[in-house]
Amino acid sequence: NWTMENFIEMEIGKIQQLVGDRKVLCALSGGVDSSVVAALIHKAIGDKLTCIFVDHGLLRKNEAESVMNTFRDRFQMNVIKVDAKDRFLNKLAGVSDPEQKRKIIGNEFIYVFDDEAEKLKDIEFLAQGTLYTDIIESGTDTAQTIKSHHNVGGLPEDMQFELIEPLNTLFKDEVRELGLELGLPEEIVWRQPFPGPGLAIRILGEVSEDKLHIVRESDAILRDEIKKAGLDRAIWQYFTVLPNIKSVGVMGDARTYDHTIAIRAVTSIDGMTSDWARIPLDVLEKISTRIVNEVEHINRVVYDITSKPPATIEWE
Ligand code: XMP
Repeated sequence: NWTMENFIEMEIGKIQQLVGDRKVLCALSGGVDSSVVAALIHKAIGDKLTCIFVDHGLLRKNEAESVMNTFRDRFQMNVIKVDAKDRFLNKLAGVSDPEQKRKIIGNEFIYVFDDEAEKLKDIEFLAQGTLYTDIIESGTDTAQTIKSHHNVGGLPEDMQFELIEPLNTLFKDEVRELGLELGLPEEIVWRQPFPGPGLAIRILGEVSEDKLHIVRESDAILRDEIKKAGLDRAIWQYFTVLPNIKSVGVMGDARTYDHTIAIRAVTSIDGMTSDWARIPLDVLEKISTRIVNEVEHINRVVYDITSKPPATIEWE
């Protein structure tokens, strides 16, 4: 009979047999799927696994630290953290079209990953968190991007990887169960979906360090209050958006002319359709008050009450 313990035992056996004395590479994003894959493969082959974690500077507050904490410090895994913020921000300078931003980030991610991978010697396998559902409908996340890239042979001939995809028979809820079984923290196992292009598509138009700061700090407050209210599992995704509009406000005796922050929070089953989350008004009030008080350059907070369709979950 199928149990998670049996699954783990069987997969570990399979991975050990396949890999032998050879080495495996994994792109760690901090998301559920890549985290579970890394933990599973590490359990099977230990130090023969190396993970690359690309910090593109578009992550949420404390995200990079938390990934490194979990995998390098607690799990004692080989994790190479690449600080590529400048590379990404330079490439994004002056670009405001959403699809253009996505393309630049996706491509740069591959370049950074390849640069790091090339420095490592004798790696034969690439582990990926492809799920059963990813096979049916091709996903849009970075893992998928890497996969299609490496499959079409974008790497030099001597750097072709063999793929290991131990989650490709599982659904999302099974992956979470597996993650818990492997000892991953709840914050990773129950992490809300976060797009590969990160905060860059939550700043409408051109991305800058100042704008990243505003969206990152306001997002951290939103997440904190949603968690305190016990709503973090009930809401599919919740984040802030910087629409890049300024409006008039008043603070103390002074007139201000500053940014608006939008809150986006939706309930959904699979992200294909969604409804706006009915966050209790007192929670919204707390979020709004904290954001205008604690984050400079915001004088107005609005709540997006549109379902998908006709709107999308992200604003770009
Ligand atoms: P939309 O905005 O299309 O989003 O309703 C549906 C789901 O997809 C995520 N999303 C992305 N994920 N790269 C990703 O990895 C992307 O470019 C991207 N765009 C949207 C979004 O967060 C939501 O979960």
